[in-house]
Amino acid sequence: MVQRGYHRPRPPSPHAIKLNLILIFAFFFLVFIFYTRQWHLLDDQQKQQPFFDEHSQTDRMPDAELWDAPPSYGLRSCVKPTSRYKAAAGWDHYMTVRSNGGLNQMRTGIADMVAVARIMNATLVIPQLDKRSFWHDSSMHSTFSDIFDELHFIETLQEDVKIVKELPQELANVPRARKHFTSWASTSYYEDMTQLWKEYQVIHVAKSDSRLANNDLPLDIQRLRCRALYQALRFSPPIESFGKKLVERLRARGGKYIALHLRYEKDMLSFTGCSYGLTDEESEELRVMRENTNHWKVKKINSTEQRLGGFCPLTPKEIGIFLRALGYPPSSLIYIAAGEIYGGSTRLLELTSRFPNIVFKETLATQEELKAFTNHASQTAALDYVISVESDVFVPSYSGNMARAVEGQRRFLGHRKTITPDRKGLVEVFDMLENGQQTEGSSLSHIIQTMHKNRKGAPRRRRGPLPEMKGRARLRTEESFYENPYPECICASKKHLG
Ligand SMILES: *[C@@H]1O[C@H](CO)[C@@H](O)[C@H](O)[C@H]1NC(C)=O
Ligand SMILES: *[C@@H]1O[C@H](CO)[C@@H](O)[C@H](O)[C@H]1NC(C)=O
Repeated sequence: MVQRGYHRPRPPSPHAIKLNLILIFAFFFLVFIFYTRQWHLLDDQQKQQPFFDEHSQTDRMPDAELWDAPPSYGLRSCVKPTSRYKAAAGWDHYMTVRSNGGLNQMRTGIADMVAVARIMNATLVIPQLDKRSFWHDSSMHSTFSDIFDELHFIETLQEDVKIVKELPQELANVPRARKHFTSWASTSYYEDMTQLWKEYQVIHVAKSDSRLANNDLPLDIQRLRCRALYQALRFSPPIESFGKKLVERLRARGGKYIALHLRYEKDMLSFTGCSYGLTDEESEELRVMRENTNHWKVKKINSTEQRLGGFCPLTPKEIGIFLRALGYPPSSLIYIAAGEIYGGSTRLLELTSRFPNIVFKETLATQEELKAFTNHASQTAALDYVISVESDVFVPSYSGNMARAVEGQRRFLGHRKTITPDRKGLVEVFDMLENGQQTEGSSLSHIIQTMHKNRKGAPRRRRGPLPEMKGRARLRTEESFYENPYPECICASKKHLG
């Protein structure tokens, strides 16, 4: 083509003239197509910016944008062991575990202990559950089988780790090595710990939360954690089936639903010192509760600074504004996955006035049905967990253990939509609303939608530690393995599907 310019021009043949005419015609045709396409694009962009003024309620976000899962680019869960992995042998060393924390801390802790038992060549005894969880639990006692399907747990992992219901009779009274394993420990730490077998036949693990590193573990150990949490550690049959029943009742009401983990409970507000929007009496009540709770170490908290840093759960009102700005219509069905909301129905009014279709467990089930579960806080939390995992959209108002666990499982199950509020960014926007620099409407929507474009649960690699952190403190700032098991348990390759 380039050399053509150097050729001596020839008189054009009639054939060439015809060709030129066709080309010119084709060019104009393409220009025409291009412009009509641009028109369509403009149209779509306008559609994507909903208006919330009372006068133009008709302009709505497309349904798919609101409810469908984000693109997963062919990435799927993968938990099969590699070819190097060997079946568990019959080990005669035993590990007993006391699982601490709330439901989700216990769940991830138990999955970690399966991996630790595997690394240490130990037989795992079914863990004891924390009777009085970190948060308030009035239950007299919970055993493993009150919450989980014990037999399924043992059988699913039989190729990985030997698990027994109880210590063999003859070992019940032998001295045990009682260990507080270090937080976020590596494989080599646990390999060193096998020295203990020289002296002891039983190791008792006093705490199970965050005892295993998020990163830099062998692939087979990471996959084992996923098999343990997502496949083996199923809730007990009564919880699973009642949870599914509640999901069906939600679906019968409106088809699609949002599960909102509204972590606006008294203990959480007291613990985080977040009293924004509360009365003086309420703030004082929270302060006294914090003062009197021994295991909460931080007592003096500046609520304003907490909020500006993005460390406070969003309030019911803030969640209402947030969801409307994202384009969810007032008719959206929202399930509240939470305990008692601080301030009760009065405070909830700021959310229900925007979304009248809000439902609770108590709305979906009869007193009689719920009675079987209300003795154990962990059982009601488990119901919320099931309903949250199955929802079309999951929105956590705060990033606690439950929010992280649900998000991770939804990623694992096929990148179901999880919208994680950018609390720090949102607080700035809410303050502009408060000061009258913004009003609820299309420009606010635009800001909030742009802010959350990449916070909808699409696949991404797990985040490493914060760059400014040094030493072991780094480990605390890493994204949790169970919040995002990508890349180890989510992959593109077909050969690991399982
Ligand atoms: C666990 O047992 C296997 C074989 O039974 C052995 O190869 C491995 O070194 C043992 N691991 C530890 C940490 O003792
Ligand atoms: C809390 O922090 C804010 C912002 O830094 C500051 O203006 C305020 O005086 C602080 N309040 C108290 C009680 O220290």
